[in-house]
Amino acid sequence: MTGATPPATSPTDRRVSARIGAISESATLAVDAKAKALKAAGRPVIGFGAGEPDFPTPDYIVEAAVEACRNPKFHRYTPAGGLPELKAAIAAKTLRDSGYEVEPAQVLVTNGGKQAIYEAFAAILDPGDEVIVPAPYWTTYPESIRLAGGVPVDVVADETTGYRVSVEQLEAARTERTKVVLFVSPSNPTGAVYPRAQVEEIGRWAAEHGLWVLTDEIYEHLVYGDAAARASADVTSASLPVVVPELRDKCIVVNGVAKTYAMTGWRVGWVIGPKDVVKAATNLQSHATSNVSNVAQAAALAAVSGDLDAVAEMREAFDRRRRTIVRMLNEIDGVECPEPEGAFYAYPSVKALLGKEIRGKRPATSVELAEIILEEAEVAVVPGEAFGTPGYLRLSYALGDEDLVEGVSRLQKLLGEARD
Ligand SMILES: Cc1ncc(COP(=O)(O)O)c(C=O)c1O
Repeated sequence: MTGATPPATSPTDRRVSARIGAISESATLAVDAKAKALKAAGRPVIGFGAGEPDFPTPDYIVEAAVEACRNPKFHRYTPAGGLPELKAAIAAKTLRDSGYEVEPAQVLVTNGGKQAIYEAFAAILDPGDEVIVPAPYWTTYPESIRLAGGVPVDVVADETTGYRVSVEQLEAARTERTKVVLFVSPSNPTGAVYPRAQVEEIGRWAAEHGLWVLTDEIYEHLVYGDAAARASADVTSASLPVVVPELRDKCIVVNGVAKTYAMTGWRVGWVIGPKDVVKAATNLQSHATSNVSNVAQAAALAAVSGDLDAVAEMREAFDRRRRTIVRMLNEIDGVECPEPEGAFYAYPSVKALLGKEIRGKRPATSVELAEIILEEAEVAVVPGEAFGTPGYLRLSYALGDEDLVEGVSRLQKLLGEARD
C-alpha cells in the first residue's frame, strides 16, 4: 500500500510559501546596496538612492541611549507595546505637533514606521479588502497591504497636478470592497504636500463613505517654501484626524523618529489609532517581535520629549539642497521636475529621454535609464517603476551639498548627450 500520489505541488515540494515568495525586494534598498557595493569596490559612486538624512543623530539623543545601556532595567523584556513613558511622550508630542489629542492606550511603539504600516494593515484588513493607494507610492505600501491579504488599488497622479490625487480620482477607484484609503503628505517619493483644503476634502469624502484612513506622517516636520509658511501659520494644518475629526474612530496615524531626528538605524516608529485596533496590533507584535529594543526606545523618548531645534537645522540644509537639485535637474533637456514641498526627494519625469540614444544605448524604460546612469555616470537613482509609475526617477537630496552638485553635474553631462 503506497497511499495516494501527492499532488504535483505538495506542501513539501514548495520551498518558499506563495505569500512570501510574491514579495519583491525593496527597490530602494537594492539600489542603495548596489551603490554601496560599487563604492566599497573603489568606484566613486554618488548615491541619491537612500531615503535617509546624512546627519548624525543629535548628541542628547545618543547620550540617553548610552545611559539606558548602563541601566539594568533596560536589559530586560518590557511591555510588547512600548515603554509606558514613551507612549505617554508620543501622545504629548502628537498634541504639540499636530493638535491631535490621544491617550497612551492608543499608541503602539513599533520597530520603525515600516513595522507600524505592516501591523496596521494586518490589524484591519481581511482577504480581498481593497486599499486605495495614491501613486507614485512608497514601495512598501502595496507589499504590506498584500502581505496582510488586502488588494492595493493604485490611483495615479502625475507632475501636472504636483503628484496630488483628487477626490474625483479616489471616488472613481472606490468599490464596495474598498476598506481603506492611504494618505501620505509630505510624500515619498514625490515630496508632494497637500494643502489643508485638499486634506479636508479627502477626509470628508472618506468619512462620508465610512472608509478607514491610514495616514503616514513620518515627514511632518520636513516642509519648505509655501507649504512651510502654511504650516507655521497653523500647526494643525496637516493632520487628517484634526482637520476632519469625524474620521478619528477609523483613522490610523503612522509616524516615527527616523526622518525627523536622523534616526533611521535606531528603528523606532509608532501606530496611533482607535484602542481596539491598537490592542489587536499589539497582540500581533507580542508574538512577532515583542518590545522594540529598550535602548532605542530610550533614545526615541529623548527625541520626542525634546525640542525641534535639530530638525530646524536639518530642514534648512535640506531646503538649500532642494532648491539646488530642482534647478539643476530642470536645466537638463528632457527632464521635468516639479518643485517638491516636503520630505527630501525630487521626482523628475524623464519620459522625454526614453528612446533617445545615450552613449550607444537607447533606454526604453526608466529602469534601463537608471542602469545607464549608474554605469556611465556612477550616480545611483531609483527608477519610477519602484513607485508604480514608470518614466520617472527618484533622487533623495539628503546627501552632502558637494556630492549633490557633483552628482547632478554628472547627470547633466551624461543626459545632455542624449540624441534622437
Ligand atoms: C513614507 C514613509 N513612511 C514610512 C517610512 C518608514 O520609515 P522607518 O521604517 O525607517 O521608520 C519611510 C521610510 O523610508 C517612508 O518614506
